[in-house]
Parts: sequence; structure tokens; C-alpha cells
Amino acid sequence: MKREDFLKKLEEMLISQIKIKINHGINHDLSNFSNQQQTNDVFSEKWSKYSHSQEKELLYEFQKKWYLELYGFDSEESLRGFLKNCDVIFDAGCGLGYKAAWFAQLAPHALIIGMDFSDSVKQASLVYQDISNLFFIQGDIANTNFKDNSFSYVSCDQVIMHTEDPEVTFIELARICKKPRGQVACYFYAKKALPRELLDDYFRSACTNMTNEELWAMSQQLTELGKRLSELNISFEAPDIPQLGIKGGTYDIQRFIYWNFIKCFWNVELGKETSIVTNYDWYSPSNARRFSENEVREIVKRNNLVVDFFHIEDACYSGRFINSSSELSK
Ligand SMILES: C[S@@+](CC[C@H](N)C(=O)[O-])C[C@H]1O[C@@H](n2cnc3c(N)ncnc32)[C@H](O)[C@@H]1O
Repeated sequence: MKREDFLKKLEEMLISQIKIKINHGINHDLSNFSNQQQTNDVFSEKWSKYSHSQEKELLYEFQKKWYLELYGFDSEESLRGFLKNCDVIFDAGCGLGYKAAWFAQLAPHALIIGMDFSDSVKQASLVYQDISNLFFIQGDIANTNFKDNSFSYVSCDQVIMHTEDPEVTFIELARICKKPRGQVACYFYAKKALPRELLDDYFRSACTNMTNEELWAMSQQLTELGKRLSELNISFEAPDIPQLGIKGGTYDIQRFIYWNFIKCFWNVELGKETSIVTNYDWYSPSNARRFSENEVREIVKRNNLVVDFFHIEDACYSGRFINSSSELSK
């Protein structure tokens, strides 16, 4: 299909028309909710800094590999095979758009739309303007402006917990996903040990009064802490402390503190800038809900979706959920 045909298809999916210039349109660029607006602002800040980083290609490769694990694809080929059967794909909360561009490259027959509430979509639309089946819209994924049953695949990777009300967002993602048999792939932050949860909540609210300079400085300090702990290269056997949600086992000291007390991310392979951005990403947005496994399964069930694949790791729950029946779905 030519770009004009993809564009026509996109316009037919919209409830109210917006102006698409080359590959970019705007539903809304401001939120009425102060926490969502603060979250948008810090992500705009994060992406505008990180888009110039030399390290970003490394992160993109790491993220793509992780994506395959998170959503149950054995390899890139298996994702390509899955996308073969999808004609319209949504990257909900696409950030700098590299996953949307990946989908567009793996599924050249399909229309791909990336949406983000932050200014990142402006950068994404410039970087990827030559990909004819890829478009970006700035807007709220909880209020997408797409008609019911628009997408065969809705991918919402590492985003939903940053939206104002994740339950409302999930309802919207299920609504725009095709019935029957469209799929929603979604990632939810997991609740961690009690000391880490308490500190995260306290810290996050304290962070809302910090300037961006202070937030970056703190992220740098947390990265340095992670690096120094990691360089100690000490492992030890931690006891189970179920009352605090601390799981026993053999830990590297940095990982033990990271999972149970404070996020001090450090990854030598990904590099210093990426580690700093990862720490900034954690404490700066006001919206950052965490979930238990049960809460995730309930949200999926309430929306009449059926689990096709479910993945659990310390950081998150993720999976692919099928919109199984038009009668059951809202
Ligand atoms: C951690 S980043 C993940 C970006 C991308 N999915 C990736 O995996 O690289 C979270 C993104 O969600 C976006 N976001 C948060 N709330 C949103 C909302 N209500 N609508 C659209 N995007 C939102 C942020 O602007 C940010 O770019």
C-alpha cells in the first residue's frame, strides 16, 4: 500500500478528524489532570535529552530483546509471523517511537500508529518520516479518538502505570482492539518489597516539588550509588522476611538494595547516561502505579479479555490478552 492509502485508512479510523501533517497529528497536547500533565512534562524532558544520546541504539536493542520475552515471542521472526496477521497496530505510549518503527519494518503491509502524550512524538515523527506505513499522534491513550474495533494488535509497553487511571486506560485499549481475536499486549509495574514501596511513594511525592535540575542531579547520585555498590561485587545469602515482602536467596548487594529498598539502577553494558535516565524515569513522574499479579489478572478479566500469554518477573507483569468474543466485550 502507498502512504496515501495508509493515511486514508488512518483517517477512517478516527472519531473526530485531526490534521495529519506528513506523519504527525495532534489529538491533545495538554492534560486536565495535574499529575498526568506533570508526567507528560518529565517524559518530554527525558526524551528530549535522551534523543541525542550516543547510547540510545544500545538501549533500543536491549528493549527489543526484552519485548520478545515480555510478550512471549521466541524470536524476532516469531514476532514477524504474529504481525503478519495484523493489519492495524497501535503502539500506545510510544516514547521516541523505535518500537513502532520496528513493528512498521516487520509488518510493511500494516498501518502502524504510535501515540504518546509527551513531545517525544514530534521527534519520532521527524526521525521516522520516511517510513510510509508509520504515523504518530500526540494524545492520551486513555482517550484515543479511535473508533471501536480499530486495531488487530495494541501494544502498551511500560506505559499504563503512568496514565492517570490505568483501569480507565485499559478499558480504552480493549475498546479499540478488534473483536474477536484482536490482542492487547500490556506491561504493569509489579509491587515490590514493603520498604521499597514506602520509600518510592514518599520519594515520588517529594520529587514533585523538585526542579528538573534537582531531579537530574538526584538521578545521577542514585546511579553513582548503584555503580559503587555493584563494583563491590559482593554476593550474600539473604533470609526470607515475608512480613516485609523480602524474598530470601543469593543476591548481589546492589540488586538486594535495588529490589528491596531504593531504586539505584546501574547497568555497565547500557552505560551511564541510560542508567541516569532510568533512575530519572522512576522517581520523576507523579503517575507510577504498581500492581499485584491478582490486580493485573482482574483488570484483564473485567474487560472480558482472555490470557494468551502471561509473564512474571521481579519488575513487572506482562502479557498478551485476547479480545475473545464480541458478545462478551463492552
Ligand atoms: C517508560 S516510557 C515507555 C515508552 C515506550 N513504550 C518504550 O517502551 O520505550 C512511558 C511513556 O508513556 C507515555 N505516557 C504516559 N502517560 C500517557 C498517556 N496518558 N497517553 C499517552 N502516553 C502516555 C510517556 O510520555 C512516556 O513516553
